Amino acid sequence: CGIVGYVGPNTPSERPLEIALAGLARLEYRGYDSAGVALATPDGIVSRKKAGKLDNLREVLAADPLPESTAAIGHTRWATHGAPSDVNAHPHLAYDGKLAVIHNGIIENYAELRAELVTAGIALTSDTDTEVTAHLLARAYEMTGDLTDAMRAVTVRLRGAFTLLAIHEDAPGVIVAARRNSPLVLGLGEGENFLGSDAAAFISATRTAVEMGQDQIATVSADAVRIIDADGNEVTGRQYTVDWDASAAVKGGFATFMEKEIHDQPLAVADTLRGRADAEGRLKLDELRIDESVLRLINKIIVIACGTAAYAGHVAKYAIELWCRIPVEVELAHEFRYRDPIVDEKTLVVAISQSGETMDTIMAVRHAREQGAKVLAICNTHGSTIPREADAVLYTHAGPEVAVASTKAFLAQITACYLLGAYLAQLRGNMFGDEIRSLLDELGTMPDKVAEVIGSEEEIARVANDLADVPSVLFLGRHVAFPVAMEGALKLKELAYIHAEGFAAGELKHGPIALIDEGQIVVVIVPSPRGRNELHAKVVSNIQEVRARGAKTIVIAEDGDADVEPYADVIFRIPKTPTLLAPLVAVVPLQLFACHLAGAKGLDVDQPRNLAKSVTVE
Ligand code: G6P
Repeated sequence: CGIVGYVGPNTPSERPLEIALAGLARLEYRGYDSAGVALATPDGIVSRKKAGKLDNLREVLAADPLPESTAAIGHTRWATHGAPSDVNAHPHLAYDGKLAVIHNGIIENYAELRAELVTAGIALTSDTDTEVTAHLLARAYEMTGDLTDAMRAVTVRLRGAFTLLAIHEDAPGVIVAARRNSPLVLGLGEGENFLGSDAAAFISATRTAVEMGQDQIATVSADAVRIIDADGNEVTGRQYTVDWDASAAVKGGFATFMEKEIHDQPLAVADTLRGRADAEGRLKLDELRIDESVLRLINKIIVIACGTAAYAGHVAKYAIELWCRIPVEVELAHEFRYRDPIVDEKTLVVAISQSGETMDTIMAVRHAREQGAKVLAICNTHGSTIPREADAVLYTHAGPEVAVASTKAFLAQITACYLLGAYLAQLRGNMFGDEIRSLLDELGTMPDKVAEVIGSEEEIARVANDLADVPSVLFLGRHVAFPVAMEGALKLKELAYIHAEGFAAGELKHGPIALIDEGQIVVVIVPSPRGRNELHAKVVSNIQEVRARGAKTIVIAEDGDADVEPYADVIFRIPKTPTLLAPLVAVVPLQLFACHLAGAKGLDVDQPRNLAKSVTVE
């Protein structure tokens, strides 16, 4: 879910509502099952909410406008407890109508708290855990007469994850906020202050942000921000400057964020590489913060992540094992956590996450640390939970990614994995100066190569348009192209709602080949034919095998690779690239293919059905 809050001067105005709606528009990628706002006005709390996307809420507000106000809270929902309906939308008002609450996360003990309220004779109108919180806060407020004290009293009773924002009619110039296991940042303005799930909520107004720690409570008014910890002691939040601007979070002339972000990829790779080597061409990852002596002793690496980030982890395995000779396991974070993994202080756990807020990955990070492992985060979001809880962080510099399905963050993650692998190899003496320098030179050419592939967009869009009605697409790849095949299939599922599977090309004959029938579309990612690449001929054989059984083949092959021509119905060319680095270019046609195919079907590529960008529940 996305959360925004604004507190302005005492004179009521339109600004609180405007800021809340603008913030929600930028946070809508976090969930779009419903949207709502509540305002603090001199005449009490008022609220509007509506199922569906933010535009539905705008229509409600146009038909039934709200008065001017001094503070606003806004919410865009990704449903957990209760269906995505009007009544389950946030904000939730307490029984007395004096207090409104928005919430992101899941209150795990909500059933028992709900039963307590029912026993006390309070009628609940929704199925949500949030409404329970609103009533509890109202009851606590009756006892304490202070919203901050009430929030403290209630949050100690809550189990699970939450970001909570509350306003009360008695203090129309104040928002009280709390967080546990769920994100919240504060934005500092001049005579006004902001709150958001991330800085995108308020980036058009201020770039000065304050991190909020675990179990902290903030009392925010127009000219003051006071933060206390769970014991009530005042604490100072860490202040930082958001290093991207509002233009990075808008579409920049493209029809969709997805297209824009695909086009941002050369820059995302270049920015992630920038500043990571010294004048002599040695890699320096100063931000790592893990003692070099500890990194030298690492004898196992486990990469944990979810979704697209996990495929970046699969690519990392090939590079790190080859360069460092350290065994690398890759595991979905939600599987890792619950199987009692074998981890000790010589294990380096690498957690990859664009948002830094994926709850499955957060829980896995905590589990790994409890077992004594060192945790290194590869993350795109400054100050988010995963890098904060990890021992070290290597930031990707893809800029804010808004489209729900990940593209530029994926390329940046792969780039960061190469940097990490090469750094460990340098540190442990597996790679020497010349090798590192030539790898960095090679990586330095990747942004232009990615741009070159994006240059074929029109041709890829044409093919995608022609295939808008296909029921199923299979993707084959081998070695580092195997995770690329899985990512290609995931993109097509996410964006175009088409059945798609990615297979290891070598596995084809062990089962999936039974799926091949007349007209089945098969996308094959072919490894480079150059160097000692014994895999090339095998994958070319796989194309022949599926073609012989009636498949239509779309082949991703290197420039100049003529071997594929007799068996390909369509060829998307990629520039010549060393095998290990090829995922950075090979995945780009697959992203464009899925994006344009979904567009041809008239689907919303930025906000596909049922998904959310940051899944902040387990
Ligand atoms: C969600 C998104 C995916 C993303 C995954 C992991 O499922 O829809 O696009 O890959 O979360 O997100 P993270 O922020 O941890 O990289």
